[in-house]
Amino acid sequence: MKVFITRQIPDRGINILKEMGYAVVIGPQDRVLKKEELIEYLKKDKYNAVLALLTDKIDAEILDAMKDSGVKILANYAVGFDNIDIKAATERGIMVTNTPGVLTETVAEHTFSLMLSIAHRIPESDRFTRAGKYHGWEPMMFLGTDVSKKTLGVVGLGRIGSKVAYHAAKGFEMKVLYYDPKRSEDFEKEFGVDSTGSPQTTYRKNVDDIFREADFVSIHVPLLPTTRHLVDARRLALMKKTAYLINTSRGPIVDEAALVEALRNNIIRGAALDVYENEPSLSPGLADCENAILTPHTASATEETRQAMGELAAKNIIETLEGRIPPNLVKI
Ligand code: GLV
Ligand code: GLV
Repeated sequence: MKVFITRQIPDRGINILKEMGYAVVIGPQDRVLKKEELIEYLKKDKYNAVLALLTDKIDAEILDAMKDSGVKILANYAVGFDNIDIKAATERGIMVTNTPGVLTETVAEHTFSLMLSIAHRIPESDRFTRAGKYHGWEPMMFLGTDVSKKTLGVVGLGRIGSKVAYHAAKGFEMKVLYYDPKRSEDFEKEFGVDSTGSPQTTYRKNVDDIFREADFVSIHVPLLPTTRHLVDARRLALMKKTAYLINTSRGPIVDEAALVEALRNNIIRGAALDVYENEPSLSPGLADCENAILTPHTASATEETRQAMGELAAKNIIETLEGRIPPNLVKI
């Protein structure tokens, strides 16, 4: 069996494939392969599996080359799979898998780091201190916002959204409002009532209500035609002037130009983003917004999690090539 990996990843997953006796070829460039380059690799040899990254845009033409090469499974090294034309893969008999579960806690931690950091103005005050501008304690310097006991609005109560809600309710005594296509009464029961007897976790059927009521809005939905620009100028205008937007899901869910306007005009107080509409480019003006935190799509970037993602992708490849259904088959 032969596996093509588009770019170097942490070694554990690669070693698991090698221990199976599979040959592993890794794209040697250590950058995102151009479409023509990837097709070229697939034409040069016969592969049974491809391990791709979220930066690889896998369209019908690449899938044709995969099919001709003999590829049975395309294992995406990510929980999101908007980089792959799933329908075209299915039509060509290529299974697609993702890496859910193993990055939930890490992404939830990153989300919370962003939330605490934007509220406490950490990067902004760090820049200030490094620039030699700190000349002594002041009562009014860098006043931020408390997170504890505030209202968190979670848009998308999947694994990551639930974990963020868990930290908010259990750790920071926050009231949690959530929107999801599916209401979860089990979740509400678990987090339903705080020590004063008031409901702590409540469902909002209309996503607009989340934007209206929350002090922090955190996005945890996949990128779909229906979620593109879910955060637009209208919804930003619904938010409290004192509220913050956090996005660790996918960039195009936020209308980034509208967000820059909202940050500039103090329509909202701040935003913390890990993902961008046209990654790796930033919308004009975004990098100049002092009231924004911008991390480079690193919400799952811990040693442990990136190894675990490789391990899970390898497992999906092995299960498929040994004739079984892979555990994380993406279904549409
Ligand atoms: C990262 O963005 C992922 O989808 O895993
Ligand atoms: C990701 O795994 C999510 O369901 O939020």
